[in-house]
Amino acid sequence: MEFRHLGRSGLKVTEIALGNWLTHGSQIAEDVARTCVTAALDEGITTFDTADVYAGTAAESVLGRALHGVKRESIEIFTKVFWPTGPGINDRGLSRKHIMESAHASLRRLRTDYLDLYQAHRYDHAAPLEETLRAFDDLVRQGKVLYIGVSEWRAEEIAAAVRIAEQMGFDRIISNQPQYNMLWRVIESEVIPLCEREGIGQIVWSPVAQGVLTGKYLPGAEPPAGSRATDERGAGFIGEYLTGSLLAAVQRLRPIADEAGLTMSQFAVAWTLQNPAVSAAIIGATRPEHVHENVKAAGVKLDPAIMAKIDEILGSEVVRDPAHTQSPAERP
Ligand SMILES: NC(=O)c1ccc[n+]([C@@H]2O[C@H](COP(=O)([O-])OP(=O)(O)OC[C@H]3O[C@@H](n4cnc5c(N)ncnc54)[C@H](OP(=O)(O)O)[C@@H]3O)[C@@H](O)[C@H]2O)c1
Repeated sequence: MEFRHLGRSGLKVTEIALGNWLTHGSQIAEDVARTCVTAALDEGITTFDTADVYAGTAAESVLGRALHGVKRESIEIFTKVFWPTGPGINDRGLSRKHIMESAHASLRRLRTDYLDLYQAHRYDHAAPLEETLRAFDDLVRQGKVLYIGVSEWRAEEIAAAVRIAEQMGFDRIISNQPQYNMLWRVIESEVIPLCEREGIGQIVWSPVAQGVLTGKYLPGAEPPAGSRATDERGAGFIGEYLTGSLLAAVQRLRPIADEAGLTMSQFAVAWTLQNPAVSAAIIGATRPEHVHENVKAAGVKLDPAIMAKIDEILGSEVVRDPAHTQSPAERP
């Protein structure tokens, strides 16, 4: 396994991290979740990503149990706050109240005294940015959070946070967690240039586009049994990728992956890691075999000619408009 700095911070993370959205506490049983975490640890993955909202808070508990007994200093635990964790009016967003309450609940569920990275899961238009950043900074000063980051924030939102942190002497954001893969490149034109200037690393999600870039979804065919597209909760998320033309284009990538000596899945994860702005790719897995296969993307260098061929094949299927980075206009 290879390591990279998270942005310009001193923290090192594994190039490939394991996340548990839609899997732990939801699509897969706890014993399978455990085998996936064990597979990750066996492969040298030390960075784990979750969120308070995943599986209605159950995902953090599953991960906390799976990591229990692992030497705390040997792993990095990342979680997030923003989306609703309960029915209350204040059980959501980035107010000081919710940040403090949710951070403490995450610590309990994850069975740890501190979080390595605490991320604002979206931008909250209903909370003053200074209030959010001060609450995050207090958690850092209390030693409950070591580093802070954001997820799916627009370039101007990140820039405002950097400015306020500088003015107020608050701890700085070191990471952004956006969706990024061969098909979804909306961060390239605005978010990445700003973050590179400010020393903020990208921890990218859905590197295999939720399974689409593994090539297992065939145009015109039923999705494979047990896949995310057949899962009650997952189907709504993966659905936008499942168009005939996109799935046909993905199939045309197969000979290029073969040429590179990689499986489609490894090829997709490796593609995200070619971008030096990326600190880590967060993979999801419903089986330990997914982890064993996908980690082999670490350290892979793709030839520029292969990168160009990918662009040629995917053509207009690639989404690039930065306007797609958007947080809810109102609190969910
Ligand atoms: N910040 C955010 O807003 C946000 C949003 C989404 C995700 N994330 C983070 O990113 C992580 C990863 O997201 P993701 O799960 O969408 O990532 P992904 O790696 O693109 O997709 C993972 C899914 O693809 C399928 N898959 C993966 N490898 C495979 C292989 N080798 N062969 C066949 N199928 C394979 C599996 O689903 P099936 O077996 O079910 O088909 C697996 O659960 C999350 O867990 C979370 O930590 C963050």
